[in-house]
Amino acid sequence: MLNITDHNPLISERLIHWYQINRRILPWRETTDPYIIWISEIILQQTRVAQGLDYFNRFITRFPDVQALAEASEDEVLKYWQGLGYYSRARNLHTAAKTIMQQFGGKFPTDYSEVKSLKGIGDYTAAAIVSFAWNQPYAVVDGNVYRVLSRLFAIETPIDSIQGKKEFAELASALLSHKEAGLHNQAIMELGALQCVPQNPDCSTCPLSDVCMAYLQQNVSSFPKKQGKTKTRNRYFHYLYIIYKGTTWIQKRQEEDIWKGLYQFPLIETEQPCGWEELSQQEEWEKLFHGCGNITVQAITPVRKHVLSHQTLYATFYQIEVEHTGDLSSNYQQISREELDSYAVPILIHKYLISLDL
Ligand code: ADE
Repeated sequence: MLNITDHNPLISERLIHWYQINRRILPWRETTDPYIIWISEIILQQTRVAQGLDYFNRFITRFPDVQALAEASEDEVLKYWQGLGYYSRARNLHTAAKTIMQQFGGKFPTDYSEVKSLKGIGDYTAAAIVSFAWNQPYAVVDGNVYRVLSRLFAIETPIDSIQGKKEFAELASALLSHKEAGLHNQAIMELGALQCVPQNPDCSTCPLSDVCMAYLQQNVSSFPKKQGKTKTRNRYFHYLYIIYKGTTWIQKRQEEDIWKGLYQFPLIETEQPCGWEELSQQEEWEKLFHGCGNITVQAITPVRKHVLSHQTLYATFYQIEVEHTGDLSSNYQQISREELDSYAVPILIHKYLISLDL
């Protein structure tokens, strides 16, 4: 195994040198403002740079600092996040901005543990913020870093195991340049993003190929090792787009589940695939349309498959006209159909709305 202490300065120097020549120019790299860095890191957690850039620019323009974000409504913050997925990221950003205003006098904390105490900020994001903003010696470990380190040292420990997390965190810290922690962290992530890519990396142009254990063993593509996939579950969503004299009904998702805080049409969820006939005989259906008189189903979409990280959704939209409002308004929010566009909705619903061409 490659001796870390022998190679530490060499690896860091080469990483930084490579980075300075090959790095992408990105707006969050041209600043030391911790707020800007924080927003970019949260966006980039589950989003590719190409997609994240537009969201980042729009978000920063509307919420240029902690105060602007803290003073906004959660609905508006979620609207700016619409389409990015993993909406708890946006809710946590909003909560943390309020905490910074209330507990830190509006000034972004500089202490690593204080930064980490903020909602939605874990080891990775805290290390990214304090190293990029103030060069503090905390090593970042994200998916790119796992890949680079696992190949460099041909590490067999699965990256998704408890042992793996510990081992890789220690290794990343041992390699970190304390003098240039920010640059080093950016560089190792960028190497993973541009050079040490998951599929078919071109190792002949890599600055670390002569010290890379996986390359020397000619099995780069077998790293990183993973324990195995978590099972995904299937869910069946039946959305009811109910129309009454130019109005419709929506509700805000409140439960600790996907899309908390976003809006949706009245929803019936079933355990199994379920056709129209069966759906209209459900108890929930009866309750929902109680007092609505004649119900006319105007259109039913084909089932739309929507894949999330741990679940697969099968969604159907039913456009239904009702004769009376019945109990609907006591359980849901009645709005005009034109207003639909101003609410933050899951992208699945957004696409349906576009197809309606309201
Ligand atoms: N992915 C996560 N953080 C990043 C950053 N600061 N620059 C580019 N890609 C990233």
